[in-house]
Amino acid sequence: MKKSDFGEDFLWGVTIAAIQNEGASFTKGKGLTIWDTFSKRIGKIKNGDTPSHACDFYHRYKEDLLLAKQLGFKVFRFSIAWSRILPEGQGRINKSGINFYHQVIDECLTLGLTPYITLYHWDLPHDLEKEGGWCSHFLLKWFSRFVTVCAENYGSKVKNWIILNEPMGFTTLGYMLGIHAPGKMGLNNYFPAIHNAALAQAEGGRIIRELVSNANIGTTFSCSEVMPFSDKEQDIKAAARMDLMLNRLFIEPLLGKGLPHVEDFPMLEKMLVHNKTWKYTERLQFDFDYIGIQNYFALTVKHNPLIPYLQASEVKAKTRKVPYTDMGWEINAESCYRMIKRFWDYGNIRKLLVTEGGAFFKDKLINGTVDDAQRIQYFQEYLEAVLKAKREGVNVGGYFAWTLTDNFEWSEGYQATFGLIHVDFSTQQRTIKNSGYWWRQFLKS
Ligand code: BGC
Repeated sequence: MKKSDFGEDFLWGVTIAAIQNEGASFTKGKGLTIWDTFSKRIGKIKNGDTPSHACDFYHRYKEDLLLAKQLGFKVFRFSIAWSRILPEGQGRINKSGINFYHQVIDECLTLGLTPYITLYHWDLPHDLEKEGGWCSHFLLKWFSRFVTVCAENYGSKVKNWIILNEPMGFTTLGYMLGIHAPGKMGLNNYFPAIHNAALAQAEGGRIIRELVSNANIGTTFSCSEVMPFSDKEQDIKAAARMDLMLNRLFIEPLLGKGLPHVEDFPMLEKMLVHNKTWKYTERLQFDFDYIGIQNYFALTVKHNPLIPYLQASEVKAKTRKVPYTDMGWEINAESCYRMIKRFWDYGNIRKLLVTEGGAFFKDKLINGTVDDAQRIQYFQEYLEAVLKAKREGVNVGGYFAWTLTDNFEWSEGYQATFGLIHVDFSTQQRTIKNSGYWWRQFLKS
C-alpha cells in the first residue's frame, strides 16, 4: 500500500484538540472549562492529572506545526477553546484568545498546512455549565454565538469547519455516565444533552454556511461496529440497542431520518416523550459537505439485565482473546471498513473523511527512540481498510491521524499516549516515535 494508491486529492491530516494540547489554561484571560473543574474532583482522572499544562501547544505551536509539516501532513485539524475567546462562554470577547488562533492559523498557512477547525471538542466553559451546560435550553443560543464569533473572526482565512467532535462521546460520558466532565449522570441530564447536541450540530452548520463564503462544512461521529456475543435472540437485540445508541442516534436525525428505532427498547419511548421535537425533523437536519467518522474499536455485546435502560454490556476483547490496544479496545480494521461502508450506504452523504484514527500503546523512550511497532501496524491495517472501501466506490476523501503529540487523554490523564510524537511532560521535550517516521516515509510514497 502506498500513499499514491489513495489518489492525488486524498487529504492526509493530523488532529489535536484544545484542552488536550494547549495547556496555558489560565493564561491571558482564558476562562475555566468543565475539564478544569472536573479534574479537580478526587478520583476522576488517573493519577490526579489536570489539563492545565497538557503538552503546551499554546506556547509551542510553531514547533508542533513544523513537526506536522515535517512528517508530511497537509491538513492540520485543531479545535478552538470556547473559553479562550469567550471566557464566560457568552458576553465579552477575549481579544488575546482571538489572536492566539489567528497566530495558529497564520502559521499553518505559512507552512502550507490546511487548517480544519473543530468548533467543539468537549471543553465547555465552566460558567455555562453552572447554568446547565448542554442540558440548558439556552445552550443553542450560547453555541450559536460562539460559532458566530469564530466564523466572523476566522472565516476569511479558514474554509474547512467541523461543528462537533463526537456528540455521542461527550453526551454519554459527560451527562449520562459521569466519567467525563462535567460528571453528570442519569436520563434527566442525558435526554436534554443529546437533544441539544443534535440541534447544535445542524444549527452550527447553518451558521457557518451563512457567514463563511465557500465553506467546506462537516461534523464528526464516533462509530463502532457492535456484534452480538452469541446468536441468542437476547444478545442480538442487546447489540441492536447498543448499535442504535453508539452509531445511529445522531447521524439519522441529521440525515432527515428522525429518531432511530429498534424493537424492545422502552428508553426510546421515554426519549421521545422528553424531547418532543425529535419529531420535527427539519431543525435537526443539515446538508453537510462531508461527514467525519472516527472509529477506534469494535464492540461485542451481550444481554445484561443489570445494566439500566440498555440491558446490554460489553464482552471485553481481552476475555475473548482477540487483539486489543492498551485502552483495552479491540483492534479490528475489517470492522472499520464495514462501518465506512455502512455510513456510505445511508445514501445521502456527499463525502466521508476519517477525521480521527489512532491507538494507545504503552511507549518506551530508550536512547532517544520510541519503537512503537504496534502503532505502525495499527495504522497500516486501518489504512488498508479505508483503501478497500475507497476502491469499492465509497467517496472517502481523507484520513487524519490521532494524534500529533502525546496529550491529555481525558479521564485517562497523561499516561494514555496516542501521539506520533513522544512528549516528556516534565520538560516538554518532543521525540518523533517510529510511527511518526513511518508516516513520513508513507506520505512520500
Ligand atoms: C476523541 C479524542 C480522544 C480519542 C482517543 C476520540 O474519541 O475525539 O479526543 O483522545 O478518541 O480516546
